[in-house]
Amino acid sequence: AELSVDASFRRPIPSTLFGIFFEEINHAGAGGLWAELVSNRGFEAGGPNTPSNIDPWLVIGDSSFVVLSTDRSSPFERNKVALRMDVLCDLESCPSGGVGVYNPGFWGMNIEGGKKYKLVLYVRSLDSIDVSVLLTGSNGLRTLATTIIKGPASAVSDWTKVETVLEAEETDHGARLELRTSKKGVIWFDQVSLMPEDTYKGHGFRSELVEMLKEIKPRFIRFPGGCFVEGEWLRNAFRWKESVGPWEERPGHFGDVWMYWTDDGLGHYEFLQLAEDLDTVPIWVFNNGISHQDQVDTSSILPFVQEALDGIEFARGDASSKWGSLRASMGHPEPFNLKHVAVGNEDCGKKNYRGNYLKFYEAIKRVYPDIQIISNCDGSSHPLDHPADYYDFHVYTDASNLFSMSHQFDHTSRSGPKAFVSEYAVTGKDAGTGSLLAALGEAAFLIGVEKNSDIVEMASYAPLFVNTNDRRWNPDAIVFNASKAYGTPSYWMQRFFAESSGGYLVNSTLVTSSSSSLVASAITYQDSKDRNTYLRIKVVNFASSTVNLKISVSGLGANTVGLSGSTKTELTSANVMDENSFQQPNKVAPAQSMLQNAGKDMDVLISPN
Ligand code: AHR
Repeated sequence: AELSVDASFRRPIPSTLFGIFFEEINHAGAGGLWAELVSNRGFEAGGPNTPSNIDPWLVIGDSSFVVLSTDRSSPFERNKVALRMDVLCDLESCPSGGVGVYNPGFWGMNIEGGKKYKLVLYVRSLDSIDVSVLLTGSNGLRTLATTIIKGPASAVSDWTKVETVLEAEETDHGARLELRTSKKGVIWFDQVSLMPEDTYKGHGFRSELVEMLKEIKPRFIRFPGGCFVEGEWLRNAFRWKESVGPWEERPGHFGDVWMYWTDDGLGHYEFLQLAEDLDTVPIWVFNNGISHQDQVDTSSILPFVQEALDGIEFARGDASSKWGSLRASMGHPEPFNLKHVAVGNEDCGKKNYRGNYLKFYEAIKRVYPDIQIISNCDGSSHPLDHPADYYDFHVYTDASNLFSMSHQFDHTSRSGPKAFVSEYAVTGKDAGTGSLLAALGEAAFLIGVEKNSDIVEMASYAPLFVNTNDRRWNPDAIVFNASKAYGTPSYWMQRFFAESSGGYLVNSTLVTSSSSSLVASAITYQDSKDRNTYLRIKVVNFASSTVNLKISVSGLGANTVGLSGSTKTELTSANVMDENSFQQPNKVAPAQSMLQNAGKDMDVLISPN
C-alpha cells in the first residue's frame, strides 16, 4: 500500500473538533468525578415522605440500643428530610465504642493516609450529646481518623453547622464514615458531607480523573446528558435550577433513566466550572419539555423556554442580573464562556420536538444572538426543515460498520448547519468492556471526521466514565472505582487526535487494494510547548496482518528540520479483543519508538490491528 502526503495543501481544522461528552450515567459524577464521599448526604434519596429509606446509611448497634428513623425537621426548605437517632443506652450500657450510624460512601470511600478530608454536617439535639466522628476501614474495626463533636451546653438546641478537617493516619480504599455516641438521648443529623481537600483546583473534582481528561485535550465539554437530561419521565429529569446555590439546599433527584439518586453536588455551576478548569468550551444540553415517556405541548412550552433562558443568564449574565448574581454569589463573578446550547437530546422523532424547538430557538436568538444552537435532528443526509447552527449525529454500532463509516460525511451537503457527532462508539459484542477492536473502528471513523472537518465541527465519544460498581452502559472511555482508574483502548485512541483541533488537515492519498482495511489522514499542528510545527500521519490497520506502507512526504517547506527524528506511536495488542483492567491498566496503550528509515520516502511497517 502507498500513502502520499502533500503538506503544501492544508485546510484549517476547527479549534473545537474533538471534545468530550460528560453524562451522569454509570455514577460518572456522583461517586465519580464529583469527589463527595458521602452517598445520600441529605437523607433525601428515600423520597420526601417519612419514614423513608436511608440507604446506604446503616446503623451501628442493634435496636435495643439505638433506633434510626427519618422525619421532616431539616432546616433546609427544599429538602426537609433529616435523620433522627434515638439512643437508648448510655456509657454503662452501650456496646464499647458506642452506637450510631455509618455511611459506606459509593461502594467504599477511598481514604488515604496523610491526606485531609473536610467534614461538614448539621446536628441538633435536645440532650448534651457528644458525637465521635470516625473514618474507619470497611469492617469498622480499624480507625483511620477521628474527632469529637461536643454536644451543646444547654438542654434545647437549634440546628448547628459543624465543620472540621480529619487527617487520615492510614489508608483504606473501602473506608466508611461513622457517627457514634454512648450518651442516651435524641439527636438529628442532616447534610453530612466529606470531601477530600485535594480536589482539582479545590473545585470538588476528583483530580486524577480530571488529569485523564486533560490528557486528551478536550476542546469542548457537552453536559450533563444524554438521556439524563430527558428523564424517563419529565418529573425526574435534571432541572438546572435545582442544582445551583448552596449544596445543602439542593434537593437532589432520582435519575430514572440510569436509575440512581444524585445529591446534585455536581450541578449547573460545577459543570461550567469544569469546562473552565479544562480550558474548554461548555456545551449545555437542556430539557426541552420532552422525556422518554411524556411531552409538554408546544402551546405550554414557554415556562421551559424561560428556564433555558435563565440557565444561560446564570452562565453569562453580569452580577447585577437575577441569575448572574446567584452565580457571582457562588464564587464566579465573571461570566462563563457559554456559547453553545443543545435543545434536548435524541428527541427529533418526538411529536412536539419541532414545535418546541422553534420556540427555544427564536427566544434564545432574540436575547443571545451569538449563541450557537444545536438541533437533535440529523441533517447529514437531507436538509433540516428548521433553522440551526449544528445538528446532532449519534452512532453506536459494530466495529466493521464504524470502520466503513470513515466515509460517512464525504458526500454530506456543505451548505446548512454543521454536524456535531455528539455521541459515537463501537458497542455490542465487538466492544467487550472496552476492546482494541472497538478503538480501531472508532479511530477509522474519527479519521473520516478529521478529513470532513469542514462540515463536522465537533465530535465526542460516549459514554465518558463508568464506575465499575454500577455499569449501566458498556463500553466507556474511562473505568474507575473508589481508588483506581484506567483508560480503555477507546480512551487511548482519542489521545491520537488530541492535537488535531486547531491544526491543519494536509492532503493524503492512500493507494491500496479495493477491499482495503486501511484508513489514513495527515495533519500538521503547532506543539503548545516548543511551538514547533509537526506533521502527524495517522493510519488504522483494521486487518490482522502487517502492512508495509510506502509513505512519501512532500511540500514540507524550506524551514523543515527534517524527518530523521520522527517517532512512531502504536496502539495495538496481541489479540484484537484485548482490554485493559485494574490489574493491567496499560495492556493496550500507546507505545512510542523512533521511526526507522524516516525520510521523505519511507517504508513503514504497520502492525496488525
Ligand atoms: O451515551 C449513552 C446514551 O446513549 C445517551 O444517554 C443517549 O443520548 C444515547 O442514547
